Amino acid sequence: MKENAGKTQNTSTAAQVGRAAAASEGHLVVFDTTLRDGEQSPGISLDVAEKLEIAEQLARVGVDYIEAGFPVASQGDFEAVQAIARSVGAGSEAPAICGLSRTQLSDVDRCWEALRDANRARIHVFISTSPQHMEHMLKMTAAQVLAETRGGVARAREHTEDIEFSPQDATRTPLDFMLEVLAAAVEAGATTLNIPDTVGYGIPWDFGALIQHVRKEVPGDYILSTHCHNDLGLATANTLAGVQGGARQVEVCVNGLGERAGNAALEEVVMALRIRPDQFPGIATTVRTEELARVSRLVARLTGYPVQYNKAIVGRNAFAHESGIHQHGVLADRSTYEIIEAASVGQVGRQIVLGKHSGRHAFADTLEKMGIHVQGDGLNQAFTRFKEFADRKVEITEADLEAIVAEELGHDVLEGFQLESLEVSGGTVGMPRASVVVSRSGDKKEATAEGNGMIDAACRAIRTATGFESRLIGFNVSSVTGGIDALGDVVVQLEADGLKVSGRGVSTDVVEASSRAYLAAVNRLVRIRARNDERQVEIGP
Ligand code: KIV
Ligand code: ZN
Repeated sequence: MKENAGKTQNTSTAAQVGRAAAASEGHLVVFDTTLRDGEQSPGISLDVAEKLEIAEQLARVGVDYIEAGFPVASQGDFEAVQAIARSVGAGSEAPAICGLSRTQLSDVDRCWEALRDANRARIHVFISTSPQHMEHMLKMTAAQVLAETRGGVARAREHTEDIEFSPQDATRTPLDFMLEVLAAAVEAGATTLNIPDTVGYGIPWDFGALIQHVRKEVPGDYILSTHCHNDLGLATANTLAGVQGGARQVEVCVNGLGERAGNAALEEVVMALRIRPDQFPGIATTVRTEELARVSRLVARLTGYPVQYNKAIVGRNAFAHESGIHQHGVLADRSTYEIIEAASVGQVGRQIVLGKHSGRHAFADTLEKMGIHVQGDGLNQAFTRFKEFADRKVEITEADLEAIVAEELGHDVLEGFQLESLEVSGGTVGMPRASVVVSRSGDKKEATAEGNGMIDAACRAIRTATGFESRLIGFNVSSVTGGIDALGDVVVQLEADGLKVSGRGVSTDVVEASSRAYLAAVNRLVRIRARNDERQVEIGP
């Protein structure tokens, strides 16, 4: 911390002391909220294991903070934040783990309960400050909001020294009131002031000026942060304007996920800073950019939200050149039409030297080198699937391996249904039909069904064989790599009894991949139901 730490000065450099100075002298804090705001995207529902997997990859990416969830929102959120705090947040080099909390004291305490085992933990306290939110949602006066702010932040400060405060809907909040609330938060102990453009209303130069204004007017030792939504497609632009205005933390989501149109995308913000240091002199993140494509693929696969082909940085066309002139230029010299090297963001499908003759040891070793740690049953199952693929597919890339392992890790090892066999027939004449055999704990069940297509028929047959009623609410198919023998990667979302779950399957045959994904989702339902039943017994009369 610098010499002036803690002093209150009402000058443009006032906030650049202590904590703020540490950040402003180069390091831009990357606060990833994929697991909190990103998970609020419609239809996304990640379970604890999936959140852990994403958090592990975010740690590999090198983000500074992982906002792991909103512990008071549900038991599932609490458990996920706790699990991430205990494992991903345990090491001394680990990212700090953050939990979101309203200002209510019981929320703050619950949030801390989930976080307390992390090596470094942050509580993020928020309250709405815009007239729209205060009148229609909170039904609170300005004085009440101020009191809530002081109370919530002070309570959080009893638990930890790292406190973030957000005045929700800041960009539609009257400036004087926002400054008053922010000053109250700092007095109560907030160390990061986040300025959320909750409804994506900001325009870059205006948002940048707002950040500058806060920095000038709110005294204290804190870091300023941006949290920009993408309703006008300006989230990344606003975030960068905020950095120019003095923000030294950016809140971002992988693939730009988040409420409605999403948040500023991690990969876009990080690469803009990396590619244009002239615009952000001396400011840098410590993100390992070569990991960006992998985290993007992982999040897309687990959330079932595909990445649009032309998405900046991580889209499959981000480095593809279609027109003859462009191709000619790039062949002559890459710099003619490319500002980023594909390899620098991990966008090159590296060939793995593994084939059908490779042994378990080489397989495990390759996964370790890729940073994927699997052991025991998970490793055995992934290896068996890998051998099946090696028989069918000539080239196995890193992305293929990731997909194979991810599918296997998503399976329930215990008590799950296994797909024993699948036979389908279809075409332009007659009704498509499918016959499946599934087994559970050695018990085999067979069923046949017709459907609108072969995939539909296969899913219906599985539904009959497993006896699990559910509604299909999402279906996404993508190919892991290019080429005629590419792996099809399918994510299926099912809903039953108000529960939403997803399952994933990969295969060179898209009907088989779909069936595996469907069965994986059913297995997840089975597991959640069993767990809920156990809980009911535990707390029952
Ligand atoms: O968009 C928003 O205002 C938020 C806050 C909780 C920071 O997500
Ligand atoms: Zn948000």
